[in-house]
Amino acid sequence: MLSRFQVVSLLFLGCTAQSLMLLRGGTFITYSESTSNLEIITDGAMLFNDTIIAISNSTDGLDSHANDEGVQIVNTTGKIISPGFIDTHRHTWQTAMRTLGPNVQLENYFWMFGSGGPAPLILSPDDIHIATLMGTLEALNAGVTTSLDFAHMTWTRAHAQAGLQGVIDSGARVWWCYNVGPVVISGDPYTVNRSASVDQLAHIRELAPNSPFNNGLVTLGIAADPPTVEIIETAQNSSVNLITAHDVGGPFPDGDNVITEVNNLTPGNPTLNSSMAFVFAHASSLNPSEARLLRKFNQFVSITPESEMHYGHGHPSSYLIQDQASLGVDTHFTFSLDIIGQMRIWLQSTRLGLYQETLNKFKIPSNTPMSVRQAFLMGTRNGGLALKRPDLGVLREGAKADVLVFSTDAIGLIGWSDPVAAIVLHSNVADIEDIYVDGKLVKSAGKLVVDWEGQGFADQLRASAVKFREAFAKTNISAFEEGIKLQGSLTDADFQDPFEVDVTRGDGTGF
Ligand SMILES: *[C@@H]1O[C@H](CO)[C@@H](O)[C@H](O)[C@H]1NC(C)=O
Ligand SMILES: *[C@@H]1O[C@H](CO)[C@@H](O)[C@H](O)[C@H]1NC(C)=O
Ligand SMILES: *[C@@H]1O[C@H](CO)[C@@H](O)[C@H](O)[C@H]1NC(C)=O
Ligand SMILES: *[C@@H]1O[C@H](CO)[C@@H](O)[C@H](O)[C@H]1NC(C)=O
Ligand SMILES: *[C@@H]1O[C@H](CO)[C@@H](O)[C@H](O)[C@H]1NC(C)=O
Ligand SMILES: *[C@@H]1O[C@H](CO)[C@@H](O)[C@H](O)[C@H]1NC(C)=O
Ligand SMILES: *[C@@H]1O[C@H](CO)[C@@H](O)[C@H](O)[C@H]1NC(C)=O
Repeated sequence: MLSRFQVVSLLFLGCTAQSLMLLRGGTFITYSESTSNLEIITDGAMLFNDTIIAISNSTDGLDSHANDEGVQIVNTTGKIISPGFIDTHRHTWQTAMRTLGPNVQLENYFWMFGSGGPAPLILSPDDIHIATLMGTLEALNAGVTTSLDFAHMTWTRAHAQAGLQGVIDSGARVWWCYNVGPVVISGDPYTVNRSASVDQLAHIRELAPNSPFNNGLVTLGIAADPPTVEIIETAQNSSVNLITAHDVGGPFPDGDNVITEVNNLTPGNPTLNSSMAFVFAHASSLNPSEARLLRKFNQFVSITPESEMHYGHGHPSSYLIQDQASLGVDTHFTFSLDIIGQMRIWLQSTRLGLYQETLNKFKIPSNTPMSVRQAFLMGTRNGGLALKRPDLGVLREGAKADVLVFSTDAIGLIGWSDPVAAIVLHSNVADIEDIYVDGKLVKSAGKLVVDWEGQGFADQLRASAVKFREAFAKTNISAFEEGIKLQGSLTDADFQDPFEVDVTRGDGTGF
């Protein structure tokens, strides 16, 4: 069936020749491959087209280029210049469900809002397109220049095409990971099509020769829970070089030891020993042997701090695998999407967990267990490494020009001197003034270049949100609950109410 999304839209095609940008003045958070750490340049300058050509440690250090053909000079004096943030786990199609799951735990999420809930029976390809487009624009606005979209709304070819088109239309850098898995075809009785993967894999084989899309910004990947030999081979045969999967485990029925199982898919030849990137979301039940596998074969975990706290999968050992981990957001319809927030939450919760070990021994922690620079690296550099792209998430010569310019005029930033602390602990999305992706301006003077209001995108998303809410209200959700519980062989004995807090004096709890 043909859909209107089968033709790449013209929104971002025909852009003008790439200009040369010279950012002059300001504090640059650069990266040194030789020290594997950030290097701060105060009063520097940077020259780039799609790639960073030169960084200087003085404001006038690149002025010899000021008269080069097509150069645009931007006065960035007083600003902070940062690499773009990287989110390695998000389900962008869910934007229109915003605020519907503020108090939902993980199993409830699956049957209410997950890919196996009623959404496939409610959302059309048009709904998927606008949700993906607006969700990816929201990420861009927040300085997330690169993301891994775990696109588990590949219910039909038209839905898949619409999601892919949404990320293409956004102008962001995205690994768009086509989910291969069962598709819900009825709620009551709960029925899924277990053969859906046959056509999903065929569709992937058709799309792959055209990847990357949008001048190299959008790359096709594969998502699967869990990946199979057939999926790995399809990826290899079609030059898809990224596979992503969820890894929760513990009491949850959704896969224990996923990292080990994936590694054992090709006996005699460890599957993770590959130039293909494997990104495992959460790794909540990570064990020492899996941590060794990740290090040995240089594959990554995506820690989604807010999600794992919100839903309760937890991340008890994740602080131990941060050398092979990056940060992700997950279901941005339930909480914040910006990586500044994730860096902050992850930093402070990791600190608390490790402080507590010392406090439990009746001792005073004599140092902090995690630094603000480490949090920043998790949200930038490590994301690039997870995608096997060391030229992303860093400001250095030869890296891709995905660049953020922070204004430092806001009341909460007055008096700053450490730019990394300013961003991780004091900034917010509104402080990001200009954003370049692949050297092209996508946010200027605090506003996205794409006129999402003027083009009616906001109205489309609002209408889609109303449509979902109204259909959801009429849905018999217990049919989905029972269906999914049975699939996972769960019984009521697998569940327990957590302690519920009381925030009001006297009667009632304020819940
Ligand atoms: C960017 O500049 C470099 C160095 O001058 C040049 O080799 C490259 O072709 C330019 N790229 C684009 C896309 O203009
Ligand atoms: C600035 O860069 C120049 C050229 O690479 C170098 O000679 C100089 O030592 C640097 N100055 C500082 C203060 O790092
Ligand atoms: C750049 O901006 C700063 C701060 O606003 C100003 O003091 C300086 O004069 C500007 N430099 C140029 C070359 O315009
Ligand atoms: C299940 O998916 C396959 C494609 O992989 C398709 O041929 C079949 O018609 C689908 N079945 C139902 C009941 O939707
Ligand atoms: C991948 O290609 C090999 C060699 O052509 C072939 O034997 C194999 O069946 C293919 N696998 C899949 C899943 O397409
Ligand atoms: C991993 O693959 C490389 C070749 O790509 C090979 O030399 C090496 O022995 C493999 N390691 C293991 C543990 O299989
Ligand atoms: C909702 O679904 C459950 C489980 O299939 C069923 O027992 C119940 O009768 C349904 N309720 C309504 C109102 O249809």
